Amino acid sequence: MRVEESLAAKKRLVEGELDRVLSKEDSLLFRAMRYAVFSGGKRFRPLLLLSSGACFGGRRRVLLPFACALELVHNYSLIHDDLPAMDNDDFRRGRPSCHKAFGENIALLAGDGLLTLAFELMAGANVPPELVQRKQQALRTVSRAAGVSGMIGGQFLDITLNPEKLTGEVLEELVTKKTGALIAASVEVGAVLAGAGRRERKAIADFGRYLGLAFQVRDDILDSGKKGAKKGPRRPDYAAFLGVDKAKRRLEELVHKAVASLDKASLRAEELRYLALSLVARKPEESYG
Ligand code: IPE
Ligand code: IPE
Ligand code: MG
Ligand code: MG
Repeated sequence: MRVEESLAAKKRLVEGELDRVLSKEDSLLFRAMRYAVFSGGKRFRPLLLLSSGACFGGRRRVLLPFACALELVHNYSLIHDDLPAMDNDDFRRGRPSCHKAFGENIALLAGDGLLTLAFELMAGANVPPELVQRKQQALRTVSRAAGVSGMIGGQFLDITLNPEKLTGEVLEELVTKKTGALIAASVEVGAVLAGAGRRERKAIADFGRYLGLAFQVRDDILDSGKKGAKKGPRRPDYAAFLGVDKAKRRLEELVHKAVASLDKASLRAEELRYLALSLVARKPEESYG
């Protein structure tokens, strides 16, 4: 199967499972949760997890709950990120953000609902007894990545640091936590659940670290090209910090380093390579279904 087809099949699998876990009730709260999750997300993190897992022969039944959980955590983080007290963004993926459609109180709870559902999914993952330790390690990896030493810590730096007084080092720490942590966790959890060896896990961790940084550099470059300033406060931003041209070079360099990490350990990992290269492709959203 071609890489594109294989990724498109994985994406369909994720969409189906997300639909299933978010169909438990037809309440206002679930409608708000579904509104946030089914609005055209690229599913980059679950694709990374499933591709990383597949690379080491991981079983789909074991990987899928974690892949969906990461997407739920990501979507919760976006609902909260858009709230007036945070970035105050009225739009997400080209339509009214969750709080604009449902009100702040419901949006806040929809975010909480997605976060807790993610942990319910992971804890409930049905793994054979010999994989219980791997499951525990995967759960710890996601918890750390989502929490104060990962995404939450990064969001805290994002809203508290003065964009005028940044150093490259601090900006890199911020981005590594805010966006990098969940992306790095996606590939690491795939490798952990599939039982990758030490050397391979190290290569995957390096890949994830470079890719996570690259992802936010790209997001900042894309945001810098959008018409109409955002109404929220100014935030630390790679494109503003480096200038767009330098930021583009940095993006290419990071993607190159990510791919080189796979090469160093002689990992075939065609899908991971493809996903990384999609960040410098012209229309990355169309690259994987
Ligand atoms: C956007 O993430 C926010 C960041 C963490 C940079 P994505 O670009 O993965 O968003 P969706 O899910 O595809 O909309
Ligand atoms: C979002 O970062 C990252 C999260 C952890 C939610 P940004 O605030 O830079 O992303 P967008 O531009 O709103 O998607
Ligand atoms: Mg933000
Ligand atoms: Mg934002």
